[in-house]
Amino acid sequence: MKKWTTAKIRAAKGKEKLACLTAYDFTLARIADASEIPLILVGDSLGMTTLGYANTLPVTMRDMLHHTAAVARGTKNALVVADMPFLSYQVSIAEAIRNAGRFLQEAGADAVKIEGGAIRRECIEALTGNGIPVLGHIGLLPQSVNQLGGFKVQGKSREAAEVLISDAKTLTQAGVFAIVLECVPPDIAALVTAAAAVPVIGIGSGPACDGQVLVMNDILGLSGDTPPKFVRQYAQLHSVIQNAFASYRDDVNHGNYPTTEHSYATIRPACSQPE
Ligand code: KIV
Repeated sequence: MKKWTTAKIRAAKGKEKLACLTAYDFTLARIADASEIPLILVGDSLGMTTLGYANTLPVTMRDMLHHTAAVARGTKNALVVADMPFLSYQVSIAEAIRNAGRFLQEAGADAVKIEGGAIRRECIEALTGNGIPVLGHIGLLPQSVNQLGGFKVQGKSREAAEVLISDAKTLTQAGVFAIVLECVPPDIAALVTAAAAVPVIGIGSGPACDGQVLVMNDILGLSGDTPPKFVRQYAQLHSVIQNAFASYRDDVNHGNYPTTEHSYATIRPACSQPE
């Protein structure tokens, strides 16, 4: 298996459906990489999955650099994309370049992701022009949850759908290597996918997209909560892990663990031979 590059992701359009995942730590990134996942996104969903926040807004550059570096250390072949956190790219182009560059220089990421449509044109041109590959993100933008009034399906009206199609074209022209399309009805997602010359990676946007990206914790059933409608759970690890922890507790409580098989032998001095 060879390393996935942004050129290879771009070239997959119309040829291969891309199954992408988020990851936030070394261990699970290593398993995703061994499973031949082409693109691992260190999403700012980290805020909810790993740091216990209600949304992505409190996530900082420090958080993202720390977790991106762990994921990069666990990854050999997948393309590692770092999500730029809220306020790390909106304030000025200079700040966006500085912060995006840190993900490549300090954390070992291959690319960054930023949220937004046409408003991000200049920022994407500046990043890609300075050697920093960009994954676009349109549709539901979690960093704009307060502006959107909640985590709601986007692109439902004709006008909103037209904006999404136009945004996909603008981002492509600005230089993104692929676009995440979040929570858009499947017929609109099909139009956006057809309009974009780069792969459109859907999340909650139906089957017509060029690939999918899901939050790893959701497909593994780690939280124990009901996942969003668009998620297929491939495991129920919450109950598997809870049962393992409870069995361990019982064994320790009842003196069934540890046993001699988990203990080290005493080192005895060699017997002295009679003269
Ligand atoms: O932060 C994240 O995990 C994301 C995906 C949901 C696309 O942005």
